[in-house]
Amino acid sequence: MNVADVFLLIVRWVHLVSAAAWVGGSIFYLVVLRPAQRRSAADATDATKSVFAGAATEFRALVDTCIFVLLVTGIILTLNRLTPGVVGVPYVAVLGVKIALSVWMFVLARGRRRRTPLMEAYAERSGPPQTRLGQAVHAVSGYNSLVILGITVFLVSDLLKVLFELALSR
Ligand code: HEM
Repeated sequence: MNVADVFLLIVRWVHLVSAAAWVGGSIFYLVVLRPAQRRSAADATDATKSVFAGAATEFRALVDTCIFVLLVTGIILTLNRLTPGVVGVPYVAVLGVKIALSVWMFVLARGRRRRTPLMEAYAERSGPPQTRLGQAVHAVSGYNSLVILGITVFLVSDLLKVLFELALSR
């Protein structure tokens, strides 16, 4: 193992830890924190509200760091995979899909940031959608779609690994 191998190992590790922190944190928010917040919404004290608001602020900072780290390490990993000329068209095509899904995740995460407090208040008051169309739109927006996209990107990343090993063995 030379210095370049150690550097790439660390880059891979940091990429994986950032991905796990972002997707894992989003699953925690969706499955644990948001239902708890909704349940306590009616009789929440100011202290309870400020705990949830504080958690949201801290999580936002974590997501910003993860996006930055994933971009930088993702570019390094891509250059490393593409420069030796080992991989073929299937690898490049799947990588293109992965980058598109990742950009979609970044846009969704940044988009939530631009919501005004008024919109947030409206979203809470309006409650879950009643119509089928409303439910479908709700399912592919915000944290639901972030989590679905994140889990899919993990699968696509594993596929990339398999395709790279197949290309190497040829
Ligand atoms: C533009 C952004 C990104 C780029 C360019 C990128 C690129 C890459 C590349 C080239 C690999 C190596 C694949 C191989 O083994 O051949 C990789 C691995 C990986 N990526 Fe990304 N990635 C990006 C964003 C993300 C995001 C958003 C996630 C998760 C939500 C993610 C999760 C992973 C995981 C789990 C691995 C496997 C790491 C390992 O096995 O050690 N990536 N990425």
